[in-house]
Amino acid sequence: MNTVGIQRISLYTAPYYLDMDDFAAARGEDPEKFHVGLGQDDMSVLPPDEDIVTLAANAADPILREFDPKSITAVLFATESGIDQSKSAGAFVHGLLGLSNRCRVVELKHACYAGTAALQMAANMVRVNASEKVLVIASDVARYELGSPGEATQGCGAVAMLVTNQADILALETGTGYYTEDVMDFWRPNYRDTALVDGKYSTMVYLTALKHAWQSLIESRNLNYQDFARFCYHLPFGKMAVKAHGRLMKIAGLEANDDELTHVMGASLIYNRTVGNSYSASLYFGLTSLLETDTNNLANQRIGLFSYGSGCVGEFFTGIVGKDYQSHLYQASHHRLLASREKLSFSRYLSFYKQFGEVERSDNIELPVYTKGRFRLSAIRAHKRQYADQQRPR
Ligand code: COA
Repeated sequence: MNTVGIQRISLYTAPYYLDMDDFAAARGEDPEKFHVGLGQDDMSVLPPDEDIVTLAANAADPILREFDPKSITAVLFATESGIDQSKSAGAFVHGLLGLSNRCRVVELKHACYAGTAALQMAANMVRVNASEKVLVIASDVARYELGSPGEATQGCGAVAMLVTNQADILALETGTGYYTEDVMDFWRPNYRDTALVDGKYSTMVYLTALKHAWQSLIESRNLNYQDFARFCYHLPFGKMAVKAHGRLMKIAGLEANDDELTHVMGASLIYNRTVGNSYSASLYFGLTSLLETDTNNLANQRIGLFSYGSGCVGEFFTGIVGKDYQSHLYQASHHRLLASREKLSFSRYLSFYKQFGEVERSDNIELPVYTKGRFRLSAIRAHKRQYADQQRPR
């Protein structure tokens, strides 16, 4: 039996959020456009003293309280909101978490797909050498121009996954379906700190990639729709996944209906509704949401996961939920994290948004404490980012 896969999964998001009702009032829109039309209730907002490194280290922290940090053999860090063109964000995380020097670190990029590329690479590393313990981290900050259609679909977050040969959470099955096409639906040139997106086009390309990846999966593995208990999708906004699953059912020759949609994927949307888009992490926010909020016991059931990264790559893969998965989830602390976030006024959201840009262009800046997370960005001195561990005695 294949036991390679996710042994632990841990989430982290910023400790601040903007309510979409306040967003709608400030932008002169009907709030139902966001709650119903996009499937979003809130968005997590990054404070100036957090970035993809602190999101990632804070996400991985609970795993490394449970497992010896010195046992980690590799860190695969996926992001499309990189902070440096050369140094991997994973190297900063390696230092903050006190990992062994006998460890490899690399940063991977392909828009929102990179988390899945990292996960599949990690699983293959373990298949080759069963003693590998790979820390896969997907960490991103979704930022669009103020006043643009994308602004409503911002958010941020990180997911850390321990990938080993003891897949307590999800055993990854071999054989996946995939699709690549060179398109310009979403991109961020080096000189910009916000993404450019052709939103309507990107939703069309997403559905095209889904169709081809699904067909390639079911043909190569001789599977059909009924072989799946639940589905998780990349979540640029919740409604995208609902549309995707409706399309999938149509391709499978079935009629989409609300009861079926709620049953097979409703629980996967709950965390994203309040966190917003976390790019490479969002599919794994969806998986965690599914496992932690679905009222049925999903042990030994097959989950289908569709990963999409603009530009574009789509991959449909499958996993079998561990028999005792519920006792290995960090469900209570995830619920505490989401419930304890502080609501921002629209003007404070704008202030955080503007400070993000200033921090990214600074070579000499000291940052006041905003975050309640363990790790924070404390300063940039001589072009070097400095991080602080708020639990370490000074
Ligand atoms: N009540 C209920 N629904 C409403 C509504 C209201 N008052 N007003 C609008 N809506 C619905 C629309 O009908 C539409 O639904 P549909 O797509 O099912 O037709 C939805 O809300 C969005 O409205 P729309 O006018 O299309 O929004 P928009 O022009 O602001 O753009 C996106 C929406 C998604 C294209 C935009 O937010 C975007 O570009 N986001 C980024 C997408 C992305 O990240 N892509 C990259 C990776 S996949």
